Amino acid sequence: MIAGVIGATGYAGAELVRLLSGHPEVKGLSLSSVSYEGDRIEAVYPNFLKGVSAALDTAEGVIKNSGVVFSALPHGVGEDYGKFCMEKGIPFIDLSADFRFGEDEETYTAWYGKPYKYPELRSAAVYGLPELNRRKIKDLAAGGRVIIGNPGCYPTAASLGVFPALAQGLGGPGTVIVDAASGITGGGREPGRAFHYPECADAVIPYKVGSHRHTPEISRNFAAMAGGNAPALIFTPHLAPMNRGILSTSYIPLAESWRSRAVSGAPRPPGGEIEEKTGKIRELYAAFYRDEPFIRLLPPGTAAASNRVRQSNYCDISVHLDQAGTTLIVLSAIDNMVKGAAGQAVQNMNVVFGFDETAGLTAIPSLF
Ligand SMILES: NC(=O)c1ccc[n+]([C@@H]2O[C@H](COP(=O)([O-])OP(=O)(O)OC[C@H]3O[C@@H](n4cnc5c(N)ncnc54)[C@H](OP(=O)(O)O)[C@@H]3O)[C@@H](O)[C@H]2O)c1
Repeated sequence: MIAGVIGATGYAGAELVRLLSGHPEVKGLSLSSVSYEGDRIEAVYPNFLKGVSAALDTAEGVIKNSGVVFSALPHGVGEDYGKFCMEKGIPFIDLSADFRFGEDEETYTAWYGKPYKYPELRSAAVYGLPELNRRKIKDLAAGGRVIIGNPGCYPTAASLGVFPALAQGLGGPGTVIVDAASGITGGGREPGRAFHYPECADAVIPYKVGSHRHTPEISRNFAAMAGGNAPALIFTPHLAPMNRGILSTSYIPLAESWRSRAVSGAPRPPGGEIEEKTGKIRELYAAFYRDEPFIRLLPPGTAAASNRVRQSNYCDISVHLDQAGTTLIVLSAIDNMVKGAAGQAVQNMNVVFGFDETAGLTAIPSLF
């Protein structure tokens, strides 16, 4: 099969090129760019020399040549390509937010500032988080028309960390707090003041506090997993001085039955009841993710960290309790460019076509 990438010269697009070039079912690549049309991808990204060689075509050319099309464009500019693909019966995997909200145009418009161009396309769209929607993705693909709204990077990390707690009633009343830090590639290749080396290389910088666009996506995912009853959410993103990676720390107030019976609020040293409860919660997490190929639940005492998933499609998760025994602390780490974008998109392609879900995604992480 020929895989097409529209927007192949952006960070997520180039990561798709890297992953797809090693995919056992992908026999060729068709790539597009507006700025570099007619150039070769290996001229734009010399790291591809001797590995990938392809001329950069138009988006229309990509759709004509391909059996699956990935769109790695900014929000709001790729809907036409989704429409062409549906007319031709080609699965369309979109990395922007344009298809993540399905029929909920109101939320999309409120947070992304524009209405849908073709609302009718949403009947073919599914939110592409396989750990949540694998069945739906397969069902739509079997029907012959499928658009994948590939998830955002922060929502992937936060949702995968919190899902088992929500699904198994560990969370009680109260607000779930998600604090997350992302590498600079999360902002894309377009230069900007915030990503200028002196302004971001030596600091951890919070941004869009209380107003980041990924907030409604995370909330919606929590609601889907909690059976409609989403807990309140506070989400604070940070830019961290690293190229890749996301570390998400989620604080989940425990349900009454899981809270420590000891004097409320009084911290205690590790061990005893806290360790025992952490072990039980860890077992529930392990059972929930037993069959998931890309979730790695870390052993007790090991905290998830962004460098151990680098360049891989894994999501590392570790579970902890605060010392008062009232709050579950979950750390989840992904590579924003892989499980947070291109790798998850390839995983979705694998689900759509019935390939082994790990095909093309088996490389172990690079620590450095
Ligand atoms: N970076 C991440 O970690 C990440 C994670 C999850 C999701 N995403 C999503 O993936 C998509 C791509 O992100 P990115 O980080 O790769 O961004 P990027 O590096 O800025 O790349 C986007 C590419 O799209 C093309 N483009 C830009 N504006 C366009 C327009 N108006 N019309 C047509 N093409 C245009 C440009 O390539 P040409 O000029 O060469 O055509 C550009 O290089 C976004 O929707 C983003 O939200 C990114």
